[in-house]
Order: sequence, then C-alpha cells, then structure tokens
Amino acid sequence: MDSRSEDPQARPPTPAASPMPLVERVTALRAGLADTRFAQVDWVAETGSTNRDLLEELRAGAAVSGGAGPAVLITDHQTAGRGTKGRSWFDPPGGSLLMSVRLFPDVAPGQLHLFTMALSLAAAEACFEVAGVDVGLKWPNDLFVADRKLAGVLAESSVRGGRVEALVIGIGMNVNWPTEVPAELADTAVALNQVAGGEVDRVALALASVRGLEAELRLLEGPGGPERLLERCRQRSATLGRRVRVELADGPLVGTAVDIAADGQLVVDINGERRPFAAADITHLRLA
Ligand code: BTN
Repeated sequence: MDSRSEDPQARPPTPAASPMPLVERVTALRAGLADTRFAQVDWVAETGSTNRDLLEELRAGAAVSGGAGPAVLITDHQTAGRGTKGRSWFDPPGGSLLMSVRLFPDVAPGQLHLFTMALSLAAAEACFEVAGVDVGLKWPNDLFVADRKLAGVLAESSVRGGRVEALVIGIGMNVNWPTEVPAELADTAVALNQVAGGEVDRVALALASVRGLEAELRLLEGPGGPERLLERCRQRSATLGRRVRVELADGPLVGTAVDIAADGQLVVDINGERRPFAAADITHLRLA
C-alpha cells in the first residue's frame, strides 16, 4: 500500500500518550498543525455533534467580517452524533476519535467525493503510522479491519449557484473501546485497541490524520491530483475484488466490485454486466 512518499511535510514528534488534559491536547494539536491551512483547532469534552457545530458556526460566521475558515473540531463524546443516511453515531465517552474538519474547496458538488476519500485515506494511513494497524477502505468511505467497521465518514456541504461554498467532513473512529459495547455493534464494529493490543494515543492519531489530510489536499490541488488520489484509494480498497451485495430500493443485487470510477461510483460486475452505483449501501459477502 502507498505510504504517501510524496508527502511534502515532515512528521512532527508524536505527543505523549493520552489521557492528557484537554488544554494540553489543544496546545499539542495547534502546534502540530501550525503549518497547515487549519488555523482554528479545538478539542472539547462534549458536544451534540462536531459536524453540526462546524456547520452552525459557518452560518453564524457568514455575517461576521472575515467569516469562518478552515477548522478542526474534536470531542471526547457526542450526545447526538450523526451517521450517514440519517442514522445516529454511537461512541463510548473518551473511547473514540470524533473529529470534523471544515474546508472550502473550489469545486462543483460532483467532486466532493475526492475530499471524503482524502480524509478516509489519511485516517487509514494514520492508523498504521500511530498504531501499526493496517486498515482498508470499504466503499465509499468506511475504514475496515478484518471485515469489521473501524470508522465512518460523514460529509455535509453547503452549495450555492452550482459550486461548493463549504464542506464539513466528520470521522468517527473507534479507538479505545471497552469490552462491553451495544449488542448491535458487537459483531460488526472493531476498535483500534482491540487490534493493536493496547491503548492508542488519540492525540497522535488526530495529528497524523489531519497532517495527512493536509498533504492529500495539496496533492489533490496539484496536476493529476484527482486521478492519483483515486488510484491510491483503489489500492487501499477493501471492497475491490470482493463479492458484494448492493442494497437497492427494489431489492438487493449481488456481484463482484471491480472499480471505483472517477466520479466516485462503485462499478460492480453483475453476471458479466458492469453497473455503476452512486450511493447505495453495500455489504461485503463472506468469502466461501
Ligand atoms: C457513518 O455513519 O458511517 C458516518 C459516521 C460519522 C460520525 C462522525 S463523528 C464526528 C462527526 N460528527 C458527527 O455527528 N458525525 C461525524
């Protein structure tokens, strides 16, 4: 898998292991991100949803001179965590990395998948860098380890006149989970500490993820950026080559995932016919 050999930035030293007082975590993050576009960086004990907060701030800041800029917001616990398709997002307090970033990409809405892919890829590579855990990407944006969900990504954008005004991308990563988790997650979710065999430093993970994202964004903005990002996502994909079930309104289809197209759609070979899917839920079928 690609190790982002073109990363223009040297990695800063890894901060001391968590738990660290909130104020020290914020100081470490701000110092480690000082040379990135993220001038606003915060870590709070609890909030409803970090995605909601960054979006609301944008609406409020739009009226203020200077407005809201690129930002990172992390919390130890969400009381109303939002998942994809209107679902809620569970976290055991202090056990997850719950982080949103706010970006201002000058793109059409059809290009937004590149930014969610960039965050997923950066977070997957951060897991290896910080915890030594090899993570795959389940299409479109989940992080998977051993066929279980480690993290999910939710993008919410504001679009005006056919262009993206602002984008908030949130990631919820299971990091240091207790042994007791809700029954519905026990068979489908995994946490980094369970795979790494010990507690994982959330500050180091956050720092590596955001620095990785910054590097991905710089590559994306350069020549051939989208195709190169896409190719690296294909290489890290846990979905390509797998038998998958695609859930559709009129019933499921089963086939083999064969490509991720330039527009982000998953291409599935169904009985010899290659069909693209934009936003369907898919399930990896167990290998025989
Ligand atoms: C999914 O359903 O797979 C996506 C989950 C995204 C959860 C993250 S946690 C940080 C950010 N704030 C939210 O309310 N949701 C996202």
